[in-house]
Amino acid sequence: RTVAVVLAGGTGTRLGLGIPKQLLKIAGKPIIEHTLAVFEAAPEIDEIIVLMADGHVPDAQRIVDKAGFRKVSKVIAGGDTRNATTRIALDAVGEGDVNILFHDAVRPLLSGRIVRECVNALWTYSAVDVAIPSADTIIQVDDDDCITDIPVRSTLRRGQTPQAFRSGTIREAYRIAAGDPDFAATDDCGVVLRYLPGTPIKVIDGSDENIKVTHPVDVHLADKLFQLAAAQAPRLTARDYTEELAGRTIVVFGGS
Ligand code: CTP
Repeated sequence: RTVAVVLAGGTGTRLGLGIPKQLLKIAGKPIIEHTLAVFEAAPEIDEIIVLMADGHVPDAQRIVDKAGFRKVSKVIAGGDTRNATTRIALDAVGEGDVNILFHDAVRPLLSGRIVRECVNALWTYSAVDVAIPSADTIIQVDDDDCITDIPVRSTLRRGQTPQAFRSGTIREAYRIAAGDPDFAATDDCGVVLRYLPGTPIKVIDGSDENIKVTHPVDVHLADKLFQLAAAQAPRLTARDYTEELAGRTIVVFGGS
């Protein structure tokens, strides 16, 4: 069984709308509806659990009901931090050996290809991350904003979601983390890396389109990306395109 956990417990302070950003409409639908539609359509996903910002569970439930998403089994409140939301999700998934994909509700441009590759990688690995190369040089700074290091760019990736796990691995990592008074992490692979060192965490290729709507400019970008998606082929990256047409060597770059 493979469960997609859609993390929507945040309130979007950086976007500053006054409502959780996952409820913002882009391309005619709330962001979270776009995200849920990807998992609903993915043949690898059996069940979807939604963790919504406290006070907005009925909003999310209404979206699910209206869209008729049949795979959604639960819409419940998230926690105060992203990791607290993950813990609640682990309880909601229930016992037994399952594959779990944690995905940011505010990454509505996730592709079916990424979902498929995450689930396939779980046959070999118990933890899987999704990332893209960094176009920018990443610098490390100290408290005075002075550079302390410039890591070699080719060794760096920008993490996205989903992050996928066999349930035993992520449960064990969080169980150990619960005993650490200094626990702090912004993502779930970070919890496995820290508390189950030595566990290989496979990284699969994300996509430039799989953006996290975080700042106002991202709303415009996501809107434009959905417009391109509506125009079909130009939305596909060269990689997706050659994959879809297996064997044919047509590569499309750019927009219409
Ligand atoms: N998230 C969550 N529970 C929290 C905090 C965040 O499920 N307590 C989710 C968000 O809803 C989002 C994803 O984690 O889908 C990524 O987080 P982020 O972009 O930081 O969202 P927010 O916390 O909503 O934004 P901000 O940090 O600007 O307040």
